[in-house]
Amino acid sequence: MSTLAYEEHLDEIRVEFDALYTWDYDRSRDGLNRLYEKAKRAQWNVSDDLDWSTPVDPWRLVALQAEATGVPPGFPGRALAEIPGSPVADWDEDRWIDFAVHSQCASLSQFLHGEQGALMCASRLVESVPWIDAKYYASTQVVDEARHVEAFHRYLDEKMPTTYPINENLKTLLDQLLQDSQWDLVYLGMQVVVEGLALAAFGMMMGTTQDPLLKQMIRYIMADEARHVAFGILSLQEIYDDLSSADFRERQEFAYEACDLMRRRSLNAELWPSFGVSNDDIMALLPPTRTQQRFQHLIFSKIVPNCKKLGLLDHRDGWLRERFTEMGIIQYEDSSIEAEELTIDSAIEPGER
Ligand SMILES: [Fe+2]
Ligand SMILES: [Fe+2]
Repeated sequence: MSTLAYEEHLDEIRVEFDALYTWDYDRSRDGLNRLYEKAKRAQWNVSDDLDWSTPVDPWRLVALQAEATGVPPGFPGRALAEIPGSPVADWDEDRWIDFAVHSQCASLSQFLHGEQGALMCASRLVESVPWIDAKYYASTQVVDEARHVEAFHRYLDEKMPTTYPINENLKTLLDQLLQDSQWDLVYLGMQVVVEGLALAAFGMMMGTTQDPLLKQMIRYIMADEARHVAFGILSLQEIYDDLSSADFRERQEFAYEACDLMRRRSLNAELWPSFGVSNDDIMALLPPTRTQQRFQHLIFSKIVPNCKKLGLLDHRDGWLRERFTEMGIIQYEDSSIEAEELTIDSAIEPGER
């Protein structure tokens, strides 16, 4: 059989789960219903609500961003230049600016691929959640996520020089979530871990980009994502109350493993090879500097407080609290920092640049 053109781009995984009808149409969950009403009112359109005629010069924007934030182009990868024997020690300013542009492409590409994963997880929830209120809400999330895929793809396609493939660890996590037959684990992995990471990462990008189009696009997307995280918390709180200790322990471990997988994403693994530097060379320079670590920790700032809200931190004598302490991210447990305030600046202390 010949290969059809579209098949070249496919990546197939086999999944098995229970699709559930419910014949109980009464809407009894106030929180979910309020969220659903809000979601229906807050729909926006990528084609109409963003000004795609805005000219975007990514190289100029990098220079403007450096000027505005005082953070040199190419950070945090650039911190590696200061390590003796580093393969990037002799890069000139132009190369760092180029690197910064591609770094932006790499981040936006991971957002794009993550959004496709979210689209697939949200549609799974429509089929597998047992409550009509949650099916209604999840259906609005499907539309939201399709819009996010559309927005990131259009921005990359029309305004940026290139798109990078999906990060290996992100793909592993998405595969695991989609292959899990338990719907509440899809929620925990996607709505709490992946969406939590995304909110923090979007916040950092929105706080630093000098492009009004991208800023507006991320602002719209973040408003949707904040609802998605709330959807996860509201739904999980209800079922966690009835879980056995052993099942709850499985959820703790699942949350930890998902976070650990995301932490072990090597810094810009998709990017360095396109600049002639192997990931092995970069890994050999690790452990990363304190500044880089803080930067990486910041992306967990939304996940830790939400795990606390769900009771996951302190179950079993604080098992997850201990893991998060080892990872250096427990300080976010009571964090109420709005994602918009998370900027590169807040990850760096004076004198460390
Ligand atoms: Fe999304
Ligand atoms: Fe989302």
